[in-house]
Amino acid sequence: MHKLLQWLDERLPVSATYKRHIGQYPAPKNFNFWYLFGSLSLLVLVNQLLTGIWLTMSYVPTVEGAFASIEYIMRDVQYGWLLRYMHSTGASAFFFVVYLHMFRGLLYGSYQKPRELLWVFGMVIFLVLMMEAFMGYLLPWGQMSYWGAQVIISLFGAIPVIGDDLALWIRGDYIVSGATLNRFFALHAIGLPLILVVLVFLHLIALHEVGSNNPDGIEIKKQKDDDGWPLDGIPFHPYYTVKDLLGITVFLLIFCYLIFFMPQGGGLLLENQNFAAADPLNTPDHITPVWYFTPFYAMLRAIPDKLGGMVVMAMAVAVLFLMPWLDRCKVKSIRYRSWWHKVNLLQFAGCFIALGVIGLMQETAVLKALARLLTVGYFGFFIALWLYSKNEPTKPLPNRVTFK
Ligand code: HEM
Repeated sequence: MHKLLQWLDERLPVSATYKRHIGQYPAPKNFNFWYLFGSLSLLVLVNQLLTGIWLTMSYVPTVEGAFASIEYIMRDVQYGWLLRYMHSTGASAFFFVVYLHMFRGLLYGSYQKPRELLWVFGMVIFLVLMMEAFMGYLLPWGQMSYWGAQVIISLFGAIPVIGDDLALWIRGDYIVSGATLNRFFALHAIGLPLILVVLVFLHLIALHEVGSNNPDGIEIKKQKDDDGWPLDGIPFHPYYTVKDLLGITVFLLIFCYLIFFMPQGGGLLLENQNFAAADPLNTPDHITPVWYFTPFYAMLRAIPDKLGGMVVMAMAVAVLFLMPWLDRCKVKSIRYRSWWHKVNLLQFAGCFIALGVIGLMQETAVLKALARLLTVGYFGFFIALWLYSKNEPTKPLPNRVTFK
């Protein structure tokens, strides 16, 4: 083994890469629960890629074959039901862990200097992930797949001058059709996953270049021992491989429970209406996207004008890109920030969740008014942050990370 490794090392930096990124990567010793979601995102990514490849072996991307091929996978393909549920539940799990992963970034100011690019890569990942999920959802060719795609693509038609051409270009037809299904399949199965994998790679390289932040938001690289090792750093392996393994075990218990006992998740993981094949002549009364899109969908519905709604929805995602520059506070972690920053972040999370719940419900006048208020709360977070963060009173930072 030793000789083989030596032979490899002379030709490829195997040991050096392992040491730099795993065996000798100095991770702050005070990581907490919130730091589990990066590795869980990686795990779910691998799950989606693998189950996706096996689903593709039996899936037929045509208008005539798509819905029936999913039924075939569910009933006749050996363990096809398991593959499909792992993939459909995996999509929800992906957004769940990524949302918590992003929230951790907000809690501890992980987007601040020097991690701006790391955050921007994360946001591009989030965008591509949304496209990936949206395109994947058309593939079963159920009622919700069809009408969801119809509604969202037609939004592009509201853009002045180029809107109609753009919507036509995306669909490849005047309505959602086989041409749309084919291109969505190509992008969902190979185009976007390829981009995602490259982006995740860059995300991790950028992370390891600057080093991890931590719940105290202080840089461990500032205090090193004589050998240049950060005083508050511990090697990623074995400390965090073991800690992550515990997180992965708990995650898998919940994930397996969902797959085996409630694969439809009460209509949240697989929507009830999608068990009926797409019918272009029959519009469902109540079209809703899957839960992970509903916060943005609620904003879209809250604005009476189609173009206005689209702009607000796009801005809701775009503004997150700007976090490193909107937050001008000297201190990163919420632990040492003012009480009003805590209230602001809490109200932001509350607005996001409440919008998500409203987006799942049938629209009423009261809910519409509430959604408008919550949209103001959502954007208010960023505006207020920009205004107060520069001169925000903060608590003194500790010299070393706090660790019990
Ligand atoms: C496929 C999706 C993603 C994967 C696989 C992924 C993976 C990871 C991993 C493994 C880490 C190191 C462990 C940790 O800090 O939890 C990390 C850190 C980080 N990620 Fe992601 N990530 C993803 C998406 C995102 C998104 C959408 C954002 C935000 C826009 C983001 C922002 C960050 C930040 C700021 C850090 C550094 C955190 C710190 O050091 O405090 N990531 N990511």
